[in-house]
Amino acid sequence: MTVHHDAFKAIPPACYVLEESLLRKNLELMRYVQAQSGGKIICALKGFAMFSTFAIVREYLPGSTASSLNEALLGQEEFGGEVHLCAPAYNPEDFKDLMHCCDHITFNTLTQWELFKPQIENYHEQNNKKISCAIRINPEYSEVETDLYNPCIPGTRLGTTVDKIGDKLPDGIEGLHFHTLCENNSDTLERTLQHVEQKFGHLLHQAKWLNMGGGHHITRADYDVERLIRLIKHIRETYEIEVFLEPGEAIGWQTGFLAARVLDILDSKGIKVAVLNVSFTAHMPDCLEMPYKPRIRGAADPNENDAFVYRMGGMSCLAGDQMGDYAFPEPLQVGQRIIFEDMIHYTMVKTTTFNGVNLPSIGIIRPNGAFELIKSFGYQNYKNRLS
Ligand SMILES: Cc1ncc(COP(=O)(O)O)c(C=O)c1O
Repeated sequence: MTVHHDAFKAIPPACYVLEESLLRKNLELMRYVQAQSGGKIICALKGFAMFSTFAIVREYLPGSTASSLNEALLGQEEFGGEVHLCAPAYNPEDFKDLMHCCDHITFNTLTQWELFKPQIENYHEQNNKKISCAIRINPEYSEVETDLYNPCIPGTRLGTTVDKIGDKLPDGIEGLHFHTLCENNSDTLERTLQHVEQKFGHLLHQAKWLNMGGGHHITRADYDVERLIRLIKHIRETYEIEVFLEPGEAIGWQTGFLAARVLDILDSKGIKVAVLNVSFTAHMPDCLEMPYKPRIRGAADPNENDAFVYRMGGMSCLAGDQMGDYAFPEPLQVGQRIIFEDMIHYTMVKTTTFNGVNLPSIGIIRPNGAFELIKSFGYQNYKNRLS
C-alpha cells in the first residue's frame, strides 16, 4: 500500500498502525468462507479488540465472542450483532450482566452449567431473549506444539471430556464448543474433527450448533480455504447444525505494524544494541511468551558477512526485554524509525505499563493513504490502573 510520505511522518514515535485496506482484505476472505460454507465467523475480542475498526469488521462478520464481562460489554456496545461468551469459569457477581450482554454462553464444565442453569432458566422466563447455552468439550487431540497454547495437555482445565457427558446432552444445552487449534491450517482442523466426531458425534446429532473455536489461520497465504469450506459444510449437513468459527489472530493477521524509534545505540562486548522507545514485554509480549522473532521492515536475519547487525532492546528494566539479532543495510542512527511488522493481533489487548512505560498510540492508515491518529496515552492511563 502506498502511504503518503507526510502521512508516514505524522505517525507518533511509538504507535500501532492498522492499514484499513489490509484489514478489509482479510475480511473479504472471511466473507467468502461464510458465503460458500454457510458457517458464521465471529471475532474473538481476546485477540483483536481495536474497536475503532468494528464498524468496518461488522460489514463482514455477524458478531463477536468474549471471554469476560469487559469483553462482552465491548462486544455489545461497540461491535453489535451476536455476542458469544466462552471462559474457563464465570464470576457469580458478573453473571446477571453477562446474561444481559450475551446470546450464546459456553460453559467449561458441567458444574459451571449446573451452578448457573437456574439463573438462565429464570432469565428465559422473565425476558423475551433466549440465551443458547453450550458445553466446551475437550476432544483430547491437539497439534499445538507449545504447551502454553495447548488446551489438551494432561491436567488441562479447558473443556469437558466425553466420559463426563455420556450419551445425552444435558437438559438445556444446545451447543458444543471446542478450541484446540493455534495458528493451524485446515488439515489440522480436519484431523481434529475426526476426533470430535468419533467421540462426540452422538451429541452433535442432538445439538443445534458447534463452535470450532479459534486458531484457524484462515488469512495466512498458504491456508487451504477450500478445505475449510468443505469441512464446515460437512458438519452442517451431517448433523444439521449451525457452525461458528471464532478466530482472533486471522482477523488482525498482517494488517499493520508497530512503529518504534531508536533512542540509543551501545556496544555490549562486541554486540551492538539499539535501545528503543517500546518494550517487548510491555508492547509485544507474545514475542517473549511464544517465543517468536518479529520481522523488522528492511532488516534480515544476519549472516557472518553482515556488517550492521543489531540487537533490539526494549526500554524496560527487564534484562530479557530484547530481541535479535537483525542485519540492516546501513548503520542505525539514533532517532531512526523501526517498523515491527504484523503487530495488530494480541498486542494492544495485552499491553501493560510495566516500568511506567507509556502505551503506544493507536492509528489507522486509510485506503487513500492518509494516517488518522485514533488515540494516544499518557500518565493518567498509567495512574488509573493503580491506587
Ligand atoms: C476459546 C477461544 N476462542 C477463540 C480464540 C482465538 O484464537 P485465535 O486468535 O488463535 O484465532 C481463543 C484464543 O485463545 C480461545 O481461547
